[in-house]
Amino acid sequence: MRRHIALNGFMGAGKTTIGKKLANRLGVRFFDLDALIVAEHGPIDVIFDRLGKAAFRNFELTALTRTVEDEQPGVIALGGGAVTHPPTLELVKAKTLSIWLYLSIDETIKRVKSAKRVRPLLGPNPKDSKIIGLYTGRLSVYRQSDLIIPAAGKTPAKLVTAIVEQLPKELL
Ligand code: S3P
Repeated sequence: MRRHIALNGFMGAGKTTIGKKLANRLGVRFFDLDALIVAEHGPIDVIFDRLGKAAFRNFELTALTRTVEDEQPGVIALGGGAVTHPPTLELVKAKTLSIWLYLSIDETIKRVKSAKRVRPLLGPNPKDSKIIGLYTGRLSVYRQSDLIIPAAGKTPAKLVTAIVEQLPKELL
């Protein structure tokens, strides 16, 4: 593969699950930005509490910079808010083929609310209005992705196939 693939999208879109399977299908490595940050700095909720969101966004930028500079092209699962930090968005555009795993707001609310884990940015039992506010505020950056793939209503295997079918041939 000639370029990294970055999976983008709101919490609950399946970036990690689909990213792992996509990497497997393409025979490349998988990188999870959140996991890289946790390995280096500890749990995300603690980072948010102690250091704040801006520090976390910078950790995302650093982890992504290292990955795109040091590693062979692979599949990278971004955190849902990574591209809200302008330098991270610029890096994603410059160094990756970015894919937005698109979910409607209704599907997003459903998934976020039914997830067992608490999302540090939303807290326990988040109100719909909080999810809607964050989601709508991010649409303009997600829309800047190279490919937009609807992520709902497909098995992970079918979704991976849909992605592979849309990848530009010159990338592979
Ligand atoms: C965040 C999403 C999370 C994680 C952090 C902040 C966000 O990743 O990076 O809690 O701002 O949307 P996922 O999208 O993988 O849940």
